[in-house]
Amino acid sequence: MAKKKDFVFVCNNCGNEFSKWSGQCAICGEWNSLKEVKGRFDKKEKRVIRKEKVEVKNLGKLKDKKGKNKSVFSSNISEFDRVLGKGIVQGGVVLFAGEPGIGKSTLLTQLIGKIGGLYIAGEESAEQIALRVKRLALKMENFDIFESNSIEEIEDYLGRVKDLHKIVVVGSVQVMSCENMNGGMGSVAQIKEVTFRLIRLAKKMGVAMFIVGHVTKEGDIAGPKILEHMVDTVLYFEGEKNGDLRILRNNKNRFGSTDEVGVFKMEESGLREVRSEEIKLINSKRARIGSAVTIIMEGSRPMILEIEALVTESFGAMPKRVFAGIDYNRGQLLIAIAQKNLNIPLYKYDVFISVTGGIKIDDTGVDMAVLAAMWSSYKEKVLDNKIIWVGEVSLLGEVKKVKNWEKRGREAKSMGRELVKMANVRELKNR
Ligand code: TYD
Ligand code: MG
Repeated sequence: MAKKKDFVFVCNNCGNEFSKWSGQCAICGEWNSLKEVKGRFDKKEKRVIRKEKVEVKNLGKLKDKKGKNKSVFSSNISEFDRVLGKGIVQGGVVLFAGEPGIGKSTLLTQLIGKIGGLYIAGEESAEQIALRVKRLALKMENFDIFESNSIEEIEDYLGRVKDLHKIVVVGSVQVMSCENMNGGMGSVAQIKEVTFRLIRLAKKMGVAMFIVGHVTKEGDIAGPKILEHMVDTVLYFEGEKNGDLRILRNNKNRFGSTDEVGVFKMEESGLREVRSEEIKLINSKRARIGSAVTIIMEGSRPMILEIEALVTESFGAMPKRVFAGIDYNRGQLLIAIAQKNLNIPLYKYDVFISVTGGIKIDDTGVDMAVLAAMWSSYKEKVLDNKIIWVGEVSLLGEVKKVKNWEKRGREAKSMGRELVKMANVRELKNR
């Protein structure tokens, strides 16, 4: 007698192969089309080599798949819609990543508050979530809640529940686990399997799913990075925790562009959307020592920011370098460029740089502002407050034009200021 694994089931409508029999083909949807086919299990190839031929009536046609039109709906939070492109896609899976405490749960709670949804709580209790909903003054009726850390329980629950909401939030992928798997909760194998099964659920139920993933400081092991290729959309929620500005970025989007960002402010009553006009007003104070104003691009919108530098004599063996909102290596490089081109002995100075508003900048146009702020602090001189410092600096100290120069220029002009015109960092010495 042939062993059980020496069989496969082949759909004689579309030709797809299955290890188990079922009444309907899961791929083409044809009924009673699965035929048991004998074969020989090949250990090397790890599959059944069929002995019989199965005639296939219809090859799977891609055009037949277009039928199910996915609907797109608004999140009722315009900064959120802006980042997603059009809005939330039915059946779409979004990985919502960010550092712990940045405000992921807050924003997703607000999202459910606006349009209704199911919150699958793995980190907090239902009571804690109820308290947050109350504090944020959201409609309690809009929330369904399911407390669980088990993917099997979640699958079972979603399979039974009637009138499922259009969105489901899962918080967080790191605290979900599945049975019969090696590795503890939060291990790479576990979070991959959990994510795979959540995606399958979302597609099957036709719900939009937001999976929260914590980014860990140590790096991206067992973090959201390894899940990026699996999901449809990857959003990163960023900001400096002691500042109140938050930026929502799109890192990957199967349904649209990734160019736009959303800007929020963390307040007592939760995250508030920051509109373009308001972005302008941030940090347009008068000039001070150690301060340089810059314009960065956040998506298609120019944003005014102030860079603060504190350059003081160092008393340690190793001078301190502390950067908030600026990449550490970029900061180190700018210090070296300043030392070389502005002839300032920074090797015996502590340097602290911060971006006001507390956001992380990855726009290299900020280089000039960092250098200008350091120069101002070192020289104890106030910079001309009519100048906006924009420009990328090369290793040789040359100033390069950056993307969206004209747009930034218009923004500066609208505030009665202008962008700095310099070809080389050395020209800073005349300021
Ligand atoms: P949270 O959304 O829990 O972060 P995450 O889910 O990303 O870990 O937000 C945590 C911080 O946000 C917390 O330190 C307090 C602050 N917060 C406010 O300032 N206002 C609010 O209305 C809420 C709900 C939180
Ligand atoms: Mg949270």
